[in-house]
Amino acid sequence: MDELHPKERLLMGPGPSNVGSRVLRAMSTPVVGHLDPEFCRLMDDVCAMLRDLFKTANRLTFPVSGTGSAGMEAALVNTLEPGDTAVIGASGVFGQRLADTAGRCGATVVTVDAPWGEPIEPAVLIEILKKYPQAKICAVVHAETSTGAWQPLEEIGAYLKNTKTLFVVDAVTSLGGVPVEVDAWGVDVCYSGTQKCLSVPPGLAPITFSGKAEEAIDARRTKVQSWYLDVGMLRKYWGGERLYHHTAPISMIYALYEGLRIIFEEGLEARIKRHAEVSRELGIGLADLGFTWFARQGYRLPQLNAVYPPQPGIVEPLRKKLLAEYSIEIWRIGLMGETCRLANVAVLLDALRRELP
Ligand SMILES: Cc1ncc(COP(=O)(O)O)c(C=O)c1O
Repeated sequence: MDELHPKERLLMGPGPSNVGSRVLRAMSTPVVGHLDPEFCRLMDDVCAMLRDLFKTANRLTFPVSGTGSAGMEAALVNTLEPGDTAVIGASGVFGQRLADTAGRCGATVVTVDAPWGEPIEPAVLIEILKKYPQAKICAVVHAETSTGAWQPLEEIGAYLKNTKTLFVVDAVTSLGGVPVEVDAWGVDVCYSGTQKCLSVPPGLAPITFSGKAEEAIDARRTKVQSWYLDVGMLRKYWGGERLYHHTAPISMIYALYEGLRIIFEEGLEARIKRHAEVSRELGIGLADLGFTWFARQGYRLPQLNAVYPPQPGIVEPLRKKLLAEYSIEIWRIGLMGETCRLANVAVLLDALRRELP
């Protein structure tokens, strides 16, 4: 077996995004114990920064050990019990995964569809919610990575605030790239992943639960099906008690700490503006080359472009060539976190200009 020497890639796919040297350095610092007083202080700092990132005052805000999918599971296994009703917006791969996961929790799933590439009309979703006042949750994907569609949330949140239904939002691809306002929008459970706009390696899923969500969890009739993701127990470790639950992935928490420090050094608003501006440049360049978008105009995510090339049938050879000869990874074209730089847009557009037939 040879020593590990992964290639330097320009990661312009749907995630992971490029990770900066400060985050990588943080990961190579000494591992301490998961109950070390210094580490406990770091945990508090990470939670405080996550609250600022989610724009929430929610006490129960912490990183789940696991990738974005662990965040999704944690959101659903804790809020749903067998027999509950879950209304799920499912107009893409991740919306469908939410529906699948809710079904596995024993919920009766009501899916609300829209053509892929379109957001779910809030008014349509609200009409359906009126038919299911008993729904325990309503879950939608804020940034549907499979289509590049940007789901509006405010109207849905404003409606759900006055109901018993919890508003669950997948912000895996949105957090840190476009505005996410958990408290202002009335979101009760919001989860994300480190590997996209936060530019921290895959491995943690920041999550936040409102007081309404905690009350619903406390009122459960049955135990949470997953021991590992049971927030009733996890909050005793992440909260003041520091009761051992599982060994926290120390080096990943270091990485998230440094990644969050970088975000707040830049400023969250400035970072979101950068995503919008750099993406605009990419959009102009791709349109010049004849690319067209899958998502509907007006609902396109700046950080994730699902595009068709001008000639059909060239996607696979083009993708392979970009990886092999330019060390650029694309699937859909992502501009997330560290990757979202004008210089990277120029490199990609130049490579595309050379390689398009
Ligand atoms: C919207 C969305 N939700 C959930 C996930 C799952 O995250 P992970 O692959 O980190 O488990 C992804 C991953 O691409 C995603 O884009």
